[in-house]
Amino acid sequence: MILVTGADGFIGSHLVDLLIRNKLKVRALVNYNSFNNYGWLEDKKYLKNNFLEIISGDIRDQNFCNNLTKGINKIFHLAALIAIPHSYISTESYIDTNIKGTYNICNAAMLSKVKKFYHISTSEVYGSAQYTPIDESHPFQPQSPYSATKISADAMALSFYYSYNFPITVLRLFNTYGPRQSARAIIPTIITQLLKNSKGISLGNTKTIRDFNYVNDQCKIMYDLSCKRDLYGQTINIGSGVGVSIEVLLNKIFEISKKKKKIIKSKERLRPSKSEVTELICDNSKLKTIINNPRFISLDKGLNKTFNWFKQYENIRKYKYNKYNT
Ligand SMILES: NC(=O)c1ccc[n+]([C@@H]2O[C@H](COP(=O)([O-])OP(=O)(O)OC[C@H]3O[C@@H](n4cnc5c(N)ncnc54)[C@H](O)[C@@H]3O)[C@@H](O)[C@H]2O)c1
Repeated sequence: MILVTGADGFIGSHLVDLLIRNKLKVRALVNYNSFNNYGWLEDKKYLKNNFLEIISGDIRDQNFCNNLTKGINKIFHLAALIAIPHSYISTESYIDTNIKGTYNICNAAMLSKVKKFYHISTSEVYGSAQYTPIDESHPFQPQSPYSATKISADAMALSFYYSYNFPITVLRLFNTYGPRQSARAIIPTIITQLLKNSKGISLGNTKTIRDFNYVNDQCKIMYDLSCKRDLYGQTINIGSGVGVSIEVLLNKIFEISKKKKKIIKSKERLRPSKSEVTELICDNSKLKTIINNPRFISLDKGLNKTFNWFKQYENIRKYKYNKYNT
């Protein structure tokens, strides 16, 4: 059985889709809440699926993690707090979830003799590119508390490989987008403001450059990597290698939507200047030595799919804003 943590979230729920589509037995961890809400798994197709067992709990609890990992062969660990703006004002919760939570899951996995463990990291650990594209040897720069906790979480996970020979691999995703992504992220921010009754589109820095990857491609690559042997103790970047500025991204979305609104520069959406990560483009050479021709659909194609998903009333209705939606 495969355990996916963060299965109620954006990437985790798409990974669950891929695994159950392939008729693999999955235990999905959703974050406990008093509403008994399963996030993106809150749907009949998941609640009544024979391949899926949904468990609600919290990775900050070691005892809970010990029980969660019993009978598991493979783990994809995605559960994390990920919003950078929120990490400035609620840092301890990031430390508890991202660092301590990762330690708890690794520890539990080792006790349960799990055979393969994939820890999901982020390109944010690299900070603004010192050279580009960014390979796995690029130095870490903790430009936000989020980044600092993910750097620590990656190190904690890898320490289980070095200390106990536990079979851990770090998969480092570059920016991921698609249906179900939080309104906080740049593509949903633009699309939802375009579709809702706002006068303009409120944005922070539009000069930054990112490597945007469609979520289904990222999940397929993560799964394909998990079927390979001998990747233990390694870190692998996952990204297309194509960099696009927010300005270019905006124009692409205007074209696809056939709508245009003025841009409102919002101070609340700007990161403190030294915290702003200016450019993240993936050097995926290592990935390509492991997987022949990994699929990365074009940004235009992915944006089209994403826009069409958000356009459906039921989906856009779920999105609301606060000042940290940057
Ligand atoms: N979205 C991106 O562009 C991106 C890029 C690189 C890496 N990542 C990484 O991918 C992973 C998933 O990110 P996402 O975009 O799907 O974010 P997300 O916020 O949609 O998903 C994270 C999930 O973790 C769960 N979670 C948080 N705290 C928890 C706790 N204490 N116990 C149990 N569950 C808890 C949340 O309920 C949430 O559903 C993260 O580890 C993130 O760092 C994301």
